[in-house]
Amino acid sequence: MKNIRLNDGHEIPQIGFGVFRTRDGEECLNAVKWALEAGYRHIDTAKAYENEGSVGKAIRESGIPREEIFLTTKLWNADTRAKNCREALERSLDLLQTDYVDLYLIHWPTENREIAWADMEELQAEGKIRSIGVSNFMVHHLQELSKTAKIVPAVNQIESHPYFNNRNLIDYCREKGSTVEAWSPLGGSRTTSIRDDETINMIAKKYNKSAAQVIIRWHLQRDIVVLPKSVHEDRIYQNIDVFDFELTAEECEMIAALDRGARVGSHPDHFNF
Ligand code: A2P
Repeated sequence: MKNIRLNDGHEIPQIGFGVFRTRDGEECLNAVKWALEAGYRHIDTAKAYENEGSVGKAIRESGIPREEIFLTTKLWNADTRAKNCREALERSLDLLQTDYVDLYLIHWPTENREIAWADMEELQAEGKIRSIGVSNFMVHHLQELSKTAKIVPAVNQIESHPYFNNRNLIDYCREKGSTVEAWSPLGGSRTTSIRDDETINMIAKKYNKSAAQVIIRWHLQRDIVVLPKSVHEDRIYQNIDVFDFELTAEECEMIAALDRGARVGSHPDHFNF
């Protein structure tokens, strides 16, 4: 698997294992355990997922050295609003049983985000966070942050999949040197329609791969960091088994052309959490 070099020099594996909506306890423990066995070395969690304890336990029990795993967690909105960044990070580190995270993200662009960013710049200098970034920031949020920030976000983690490319935002992030990560890369859990899409399934048939594998491959070929999630062992293995085929430029364009501006998650200007 390819690593991508972030603007601060750190490297991030291009496929990360997502654990959104993966239940704390056995479900999450098993999922992360299978992911590490399957070869994922990048795990993406968040305080709001309420499963950092299981993620930490699974990593610890795997016996894989901590430095071989790229670990991301996120500052939750209540903590951003309450200017609680430092305490929130400490709590996450305790649950994750580690003394640093590879990447810490402001989960959503709430009020006081510029204060959280300044705190994160300090925590990075102290070595508790290797790379600092944001999530769900639109162009105007990034522009505003740049007025007070000393450091350009290493990452912006945003919704992106074949029915919602988010192209303009991706282009903007790249222009500024921020790496883009895609959440709900397979279209999320609320709908199966992207994985049922006729064009994607036609391409999948050609390569004897699943629709999910074709979508993951498309993200990789767009140089996006892709964060598929699953709680099923077979799918966890399947989603990283994407290095024995390559989509043609025409097929990538066909998939991009499926864009219909259809978000599956909240709009970053209109969320109520
Ligand atoms: P499950 O966890 O039950 O396997 P996204 O990564 O876009 O958030 O989408 C994840 C959704 O797609 C989840 O509901 C997950 O369900 C499902 N999923 C993940 N991998 C596959 C796969 N290889 N084939 C079909 N569905 C998948």
